[in-house]
Amino acid sequence: MKVAILGSTGFLGTQILEVLSEYPDSFEICLLSGFKNYRKLREQIDAYHPDYAFLKEVKEEKINNTVFLSEEKLREVLFSSKIEGIFIASAGLDFLDIFAGLLGLPKTLWIASKELMIVAGEILKNKISVFANQNLIPLDSEHYALWSILKGMQDPGRVEKVYLTASGGPFYEWRGSFEDITPEMTLAHPNWKMGDKITVDSATLVNKGLEVIEACYLFELSYHQIDVFVQRESYLHAGVRLKDGMYHMVMFPPDMRKVIRASLYPFLKKKTMPSPDLFAQELGGVRTLSFDYPVSERFQGFYLALEAARKGGGYPAFFCGADQACVEAFLTRRLSFGEIAVVLEECLQARVPNPSNLQEAFEIYQRGYHLAKERIVVRGRSQC
Ligand SMILES: NC(=O)c1ccc[n+]([C@@H]2O[C@H](COP(=O)([O-])OP(=O)(O)OC[C@H]3O[C@@H](n4cnc5c(N)ncnc54)[C@H](OP(=O)(O)O)[C@@H]3O)[C@@H](O)[C@H]2O)c1
Repeated sequence: MKVAILGSTGFLGTQILEVLSEYPDSFEICLLSGFKNYRKLREQIDAYHPDYAFLKEVKEEKINNTVFLSEEKLREVLFSSKIEGIFIASAGLDFLDIFAGLLGLPKTLWIASKELMIVAGEILKNKISVFANQNLIPLDSEHYALWSILKGMQDPGRVEKVYLTASGGPFYEWRGSFEDITPEMTLAHPNWKMGDKITVDSATLVNKGLEVIEACYLFELSYHQIDVFVQRESYLHAGVRLKDGMYHMVMFPPDMRKVIRASLYPFLKKKTMPSPDLFAQELGGVRTLSFDYPVSERFQGFYLALEAARKGGGYPAFFCGADQACVEAFLTRRLSFGEIAVVLEECLQARVPNPSNLQEAFEIYQRGYHLAKERIVVRGRSQC
């Protein structure tokens, strides 16, 4: 299969590349796209020799045999028969139109990008549903786990409740003040190595609320059908409770490469995978699994994301934009960890219209972003 990776220079994109390169007889890496990180993309070009590359501001025509594409040409190549599968692992919204266009094409799409799904979700509900769109494979660990249960289920009507798990992040047992939590402490996630935005969101648990919203779009669920519990070691990722009282849960060690590898399995020419014994080799020091339910009320960011899901319409996109501004302000020390939820709550008081097309959904995201920025300035921490 000829594949492209959007966001190849990110944490997830790098892991996707690493796993794909284990199966050279099944996958040909044709296109790599970052956003601004030239050095990293250059390393990837030297290592994987793709036919095409894209970076926002690079005009260079060719590196060895790799052709740098303009934005227009990127679209053309992605939409052509030259590419059969696309991993969408970019942050931000620059690929929103491309993402929307790809959803209608007969190509396999591995989708991890949270912002794209949440902003496009209200408008493209039918195309983002994994039931309506058989070409879509969710690549977040929780959504992949849920997908692996639901796709094999003869009668989805048997499902009573859907569960997503949260690690709780580095501060779940923190007894001090949230005001004392620094960006450095936050970026040291105990279980997962990820980009800065998602790492901060994991610490505030906003990420889990965003994942509930994604799950609504991906699996045609209403937010109240989904419940979240904290599973500290991140070994259980998602599950369902059936009407007969049985629970089906998916378990694997916290390593995105496992999810990526599993998602590739149907496309492998030779069906070989490393499958070490979980308990003997992979559990390592983990002998017990610890749970907490419901999510601690100290993590109001999680509950505010659920509130955005409950309000529906433009609120998820608006909330997502507001959260982006809060995370940026926290990482540049203009907002404290504890203030993130305060600003998000203020933003959710705004009246937000229902978008009627993708452009409006994008503008709502931007309105959320700018309103949060204004609120942050009002809080007096801005250095601008
Ligand atoms: N990391 C994980 O384990 C994980 C798991 C599940 C879902 N996700 C989702 O996957 C996405 C990427 O996560 P990550 O951890 O890999 O983040 P990351 O390390 O920050 O990487 C982000 C990637 O997106 C590119 N990018 C940045 N801003 C962009 C924009 N405005 N438009 C288009 N591309 C842009 C970056 O390019 P440059 O670096 O070249 O600027 C980079 O390739 C996020 O939506 C995240 O929520 C990640």
